[in-house]
Amino acid sequence: MSNEHATLSFSDSGKQVELPVYKGSIGPSVVDIRKLYKDTDHFTFDPGFLSTASCESKITYIDGEKGVLLYRGYPIEQLAQHSSHLEVCYLLLYGELPTKDEFDQFQRSITMHTMVHEGLKNFYNGFRRDAHPMAIMVGVVGALSAFYHDSLDIHNPEHREVSAHRLIAKMPTIAAWSYKFAQGQPFLYPDNRLGYVENFLRLMFGVPAQDYEVNPVVAKALERLFILHADHEQNASTSTVRLAGSSGANPFACISAGIGTLWGPAHGGANEAVLKMLAEIGSVGNIENCIRRSENPDDPFRLMGFGHRVYKNYDPRAKIIRESCHDVLNALGVDDPMLEVALRLEEKALKEDYFISRKLYPNVDFYSGIILKAIGIPINMFTVMFALGRTVGWIAHWMEMIKEPNTPIGRPRQLYTGPTPRDYVPVARRKG
Ligand code: CMC
Repeated sequence: MSNEHATLSFSDSGKQVELPVYKGSIGPSVVDIRKLYKDTDHFTFDPGFLSTASCESKITYIDGEKGVLLYRGYPIEQLAQHSSHLEVCYLLLYGELPTKDEFDQFQRSITMHTMVHEGLKNFYNGFRRDAHPMAIMVGVVGALSAFYHDSLDIHNPEHREVSAHRLIAKMPTIAAWSYKFAQGQPFLYPDNRLGYVENFLRLMFGVPAQDYEVNPVVAKALERLFILHADHEQNASTSTVRLAGSSGANPFACISAGIGTLWGPAHGGANEAVLKMLAEIGSVGNIENCIRRSENPDDPFRLMGFGHRVYKNYDPRAKIIRESCHDVLNALGVDDPMLEVALRLEEKALKEDYFISRKLYPNVDFYSGIILKAIGIPINMFTVMFALGRTVGWIAHWMEMIKEPNTPIGRPRQLYTGPTPRDYVPVARRKG
């Protein structure tokens, strides 16, 4: 590590402590406060982790000021243009781009795990037909741990690897079935002659009564969306997966916890919220009112798909999706007035002092819904699509954490401001 340190002094006691400082390969250094409590009887206070690095990681790097996103060092723009989702999965899991042989072997393993245990199908019938597909995802993915006992030893590297491959391989099947269940259509089995994205599209939109032909424009758009969503360092759902995993929980339980966290509208649920917002705005004439509402501190309304904890510049993923949007809509011959509303909304918001001073830019969710809608994905499946893409990121972080020797259980502390000790009062003597 390094000899650099920071000195912390306390104004009341005059006590000083030296804290080690570690440099990353790029990005901000960190001050190691692990011994602070032992040495000073103080905790640090950082709700929302505004200044706290919760772990060391080699997977993904974001420079929020410059709008840079790197997976294992490779810029997202290059991966989105030249790579495939499965290749990105390999890169995130194993740290390097695969050779041809390595990729063939990986692809074969993923393909061999696309089916789910037949008993798992019964779970779907337990849900209401109008259940949100994210609710089904949380339940069914968690339930995988009841079916794959042969890969649950988290201390065994082979078990970890097979669980990782199973999760990546089965997620399209599980996701598509959550849609089929709501539609009242029969579930299809995976077709291993197809690629990852093509197989998912057939599982979603195919029916047993006829052949399904994959539209290459749709497949390419989805491939790109999956790549853009594959990882985003220590976001809320990934941190949840790590926290759950730090207790020794099995990977299926951990990923299910991540899916639950992703569902929230401040996180992955924003893509669904954006489309609902654009539909409510309806036409360019109503944009002004929407912006005024989002700027009003007394109104809880926020411009969905805008702002980010880390990016204080244009989200590089949003830039790529915005460009793809035009291509996909043109190629599919879709004329969606929502794209016009979104473009004008962005243009107007970015000229507002409120948005400029707070560095609020469109994020990944602002344009992704327009593409998903154009390719026929229903709105309540949008966050499921995000989960499908992000599965590999969650697993890569879980693997990285488990591989690290002596990872402690994640156990934050608190600033307690509740009552001080007091004696129990029997109900007859309580004043009411
Ligand atoms: N519309 C209007 N004002 C906003 C918005 C917005 N979308 N986002 C932030 N602000 C304001 C906020 O009110 C605050 O103003 P003030 O300083 O006057 O109190 C200031 O900007 C800073 O906001 P913050 O809430 O402290 O920022 P944060 O880093 O805690 O929150 C965020 C980040 C993404 C939760 C937030 O920007 C937001 O709620 N955006 C809308 C939901 C959204 O699009 N989420 C997707 C995030 S990207 C994909 C993902 O992570 O899954």
